[in-house]
Amino acid sequence: MNFNRQIQTLDEFTIQQLRDFPEATGELSHLLRNIGLAAKRVNVEVNKAGLVDILGDAGTINVQGEEVKKLDVFANDQFTRVLHHGIACAGIASEELDDFVAFDDAKSINSKYVCLFDPLDGSANIDVNVSIGTIFSVYRRVTPVGTVVTREDFLQPGNQQVAAGYVVYGSSTMMVYATRRGVNGFTLDPSIGEWTLSHPDITCPDKGRIYSVNHGNFFKYDEGVRNYITACQQKDKTNGGPYTQRYIGSMVSDVHRNLIKGGIFMYPGTTGKPNGKLRLLYECNPFAFIVTKAGGRATNGTIPTLDVIPTELHQRSPFFVGSSRMMDELETYL
Ligand code: AHG
Ligand code: MN
Ligand code: MN
Repeated sequence: MNFNRQIQTLDEFTIQQLRDFPEATGELSHLLRNIGLAAKRVNVEVNKAGLVDILGDAGTINVQGEEVKKLDVFANDQFTRVLHHGIACAGIASEELDDFVAFDDAKSINSKYVCLFDPLDGSANIDVNVSIGTIFSVYRRVTPVGTVVTREDFLQPGNQQVAAGYVVYGSSTMMVYATRRGVNGFTLDPSIGEWTLSHPDITCPDKGRIYSVNHGNFFKYDEGVRNYITACQQKDKTNGGPYTQRYIGSMVSDVHRNLIKGGIFMYPGTTGKPNGKLRLLYECNPFAFIVTKAGGRATNGTIPTLDVIPTELHQRSPFFVGSSRMMDELETYL
């Protein structure tokens, strides 16, 4: 190992960014640091998932009516605990919990931010050693600091996000997060246990060659979506097709790849589920924010995802996200 290598750690990076804003309190840096800490703990468990008795079902069904895997529960606990112990978070909402959790101790009620997360995304892939992830979203609370947070702090439109990000537990472990200042990626260096800046200032190519969708649902999509998918498969002088189809079934990995390489990811509504499967607050909004900050776009098929006013914590939404020119093309079909 080359110890002379220049590295910038996540902590150094967030502190550096703070210096440009003398009025900033540093709470967001703390929050990101805590998320990084929880993710490292989850990473340790994900890495040995095949070795220990942590695979399989926890025997409970989550609020979405799905089986909860043990690692989902573990990840949910880690993120909740680390954020509760930290000084920057006044409450959380999670895909795995029926309701939000308000941290009502004296320290937490004085925190500015709430955090929403999907602690383990793509959990059906755990048992088969395929990349999974964590998705998170940070909002400034709308209720006064010094009080206990309420539902309205969580039910904010995505355009109010202060930061959003994800962790991919993949061939290497990466954390990517966006603020209004841009999108940056950090790779976990396991030899020193530090997140190190590896992908500064990520921008999404305005066009790519990848489309990602669950083809098995093709005949359940509406006509516009079917026509767009068919166009992706056809050779066309204007769009440069045919495109390549890539779909892992872990949204974090699918969107991460498309963000870096250029592409489009879709989880449309189906005949049985007009709002699709993905959750607006835990999955769609964070990715809409990240990809939009990187120069791409996201829509529910009608309006930009970030403009949707949420009414329920666990509401679902059709979701289309990706390279800006591919999104333009898609919208001509919808
Ligand atoms: P989760 O594991 O948090 O429930 O999310 C899985 C999601 C998402 O990651 C993925 O893109 C999608 O489910 C795959 O769904 P289909 O199998 O219906 O395509
Ligand atoms: Mn998910
Ligand atoms: Mn999940």
